[in-house]
Amino acid sequence: MDPSLSRFIAQYFQLVDPWDLQYPAAEILKSPTTQKILFKQMFDEEKIDPVPPQTYRTRVLKTLISQLEQSLSDPDEDEIDSDLLNAYSSLMTQARPSELDTVQQLSHVKYTAPTVENRSIITTESRGLILSSGTTGFRTWEAALCLATFLSTPAGHDHIRGNRVVELGAGTGLLSMYCAKYLGATHVLATDGNAALMETLKSTSFARNGLDGSLKIRAEVWEWGEPLELDQGEPTCFDVALGADVTYDTDIIPLLATAICELFTKHRLKEFILSATIRNEDTFEAFLHESERRSLKLERVPFSSPPFEDQNGFFHKPAADIRIYRITSGLGS
Ligand SMILES: C[S@@+](CC[C@H](N)C(=O)[O-])C[C@H]1O[C@@H](n2cnc3c(N)ncnc32)[C@H](O)[C@@H]1O
Repeated sequence: MDPSLSRFIAQYFQLVDPWDLQYPAAEILKSPTTQKILFKQMFDEEKIDPVPPQTYRTRVLKTLISQLEQSLSDPDEDEIDSDLLNAYSSLMTQARPSELDTVQQLSHVKYTAPTVENRSIITTESRGLILSSGTTGFRTWEAALCLATFLSTPAGHDHIRGNRVVELGAGTGLLSMYCAKYLGATHVLATDGNAALMETLKSTSFARNGLDGSLKIRAEVWEWGEPLELDQGEPTCFDVALGADVTYDTDIIPLLATAICELFTKHRLKEFILSATIRNEDTFEAFLHESERRSLKLERVPFSSPPFEDQNGFFHKPAADIRIYRITSGLGS
């Protein structure tokens, strides 16, 4: 399959904003084979899983059909695939959900890894709401996608392979599930202070990724500042901790620093990999000061995501700078 076609399909299942989707060139789009692939892999609802939300499907198919119309140069020879047209008319006749329902709806989002074919993780998200059930964690943030991209490189993978991993503020659990399913972690503990998030992970997302009943991954509520409570038989020591977009508010920074220190002192943590979106320099400065005060050593990881146009998976277009840091304890563990 043409790489521009597989990228477009992967972006569609990740629910990339419709105006950012990279449609294949007209020459590729108008081929009958391409159109058959597009129908089968994106719009044949009976066979596709997960099916993107109705409003998203309608918007993408509408633009696709209009691009196809423009790409057909010879009306006697070229035509739009009838299955695609039928799928569009069927979508147009379906009752539209209200805007409120669309915004609150939980959807399954499929994220494709950039490096190896056929690696994907399905999350459960409410994209329309920045804050839902009292947490910002019901969507996957750009810092997590940037860190997932780094972990897909050989240097990033080395931090996970053969190691026990704990994630703080895991949200939808993309990173935890990626480490458990594909990156060779021996055990992963996904944690977040929000109970609804951890319940969704356990009741829905693990099963969606073939991880239900797996001894490799668990999800627990952990509110920073409280002791980490582990079930009997669970590993109590961790090699690496992950945290993406957890330094966004000065109020939570002291608690986050307490949690990181607890991992180093009580759970023999060796390193913490932080992916931070720098929306406000002062907020991040507060995290740097708090870390220094607690003798945490930060070293910047020399990685930045490729530009959006060159990405092949874990698509993200950050509005702000994202930095990855490796944090160790200056006091020893
Ligand atoms: C911006 S979201 C990031 C979620 C995920 N890491 C990502 O990048 O997609 C921040 C997450 O931190 C969690 N969080 C915020 N304060 C917390 C606290 N005091 N204890 C534990 N988790 C907390 C939230 O529930 C939320 O899931």
